[in-house]
Amino acid sequence: MATTSRIAIVGAGNVGATAAYALMLRGLFAEIVLIDQTPERAAAEATDIADANAIAQPVRIWAGDYADVTDASILVITAGAATKAGEPRTAIAGKSAVIVRDCVRQAMEAGFDGILVVASNPADVMTQVAQAMSGLPSERVIGTGTLLDSNRFRKRIADQLSVAPGALEALVLGEHGDSEVMAYSTVRIGGMELETYLAGQSFDRPAIAHDVMRAGYTIAEGKGYTSFGVATAIARICEAIHRDERVILPVSTMLRGQYGIEGIYLSLPCLIGAGGVLRILTPALAADEQTALLASADILRQTLQAAG
Ligand code: 2OP
Repeated sequence: MATTSRIAIVGAGNVGATAAYALMLRGLFAEIVLIDQTPERAAAEATDIADANAIAQPVRIWAGDYADVTDASILVITAGAATKAGEPRTAIAGKSAVIVRDCVRQAMEAGFDGILVVASNPADVMTQVAQAMSGLPSERVIGTGTLLDSNRFRKRIADQLSVAPGALEALVLGEHGDSEVMAYSTVRIGGMELETYLAGQSFDRPAIAHDVMRAGYTIAEGKGYTSFGVATAIARICEAIHRDERVILPVSTMLRGQYGIEGIYLSLPCLIGAGGVLRILTPALAADEQTALLASADILRQTLQAAG
């Protein structure tokens, strides 16, 4: 498996370009390659980001092609169809699958032998499509999944509790989409369970769950798309891989019987290091959360089949 200081990003749109910028600021990789079906777009984004080199990080970034992927240790895929206003992510599975399969085919033909990180929507299904097309072991094909949703969950809980978002743990599991599971049973504040910490303080679970699940739609209504949250999730996953951090993040991974779910990509907490997903964790969930997770898996299985 390639372990170099080069990362390649397919898709120089709002998410891909923002991810490249986030990665440059972290100074993790010596080289960042942007690949897009519109080379002029990739070149413009690369030049714009490189203009920050002198006062940010001296990362070499350029618009390239799949020949540049051969020596990349991580390939991020953001290319895919875009949802219309209010459209669920699953609605574009067929269109995105065609794009993602072509990207992965070209990368494998170029000899890519690293780790795939997939953000194209619907994220779980596109990650599974990418893994099947690549033939790479599933631990080396990771979806951004509900890392973004879990960050949204943590932020909104933190705001209600008046604590810092980084001060608490909270997991969203399952689909990065409408069937995602707000696993309140996983919330910990300084090791305390939510109910214990609340000690009778009012807390609006339904409002938070709705706000988290609708966040992608709400942001897109305002600016036409989302970018910063998912791009930061991409950068965090790539950082964990590149530094062999062995950190635990909720990401989309292939389940092999966890909670009775087999052969479907969805998000669970995973141990992430240089080899990709090193371990899939299975926290004890409340009965309703387990039921919702199984329902999410069914929706993803149906979406995968519909994607062809
Ligand atoms: C998000 O939730 C659109 O899936 C993207 O921000």
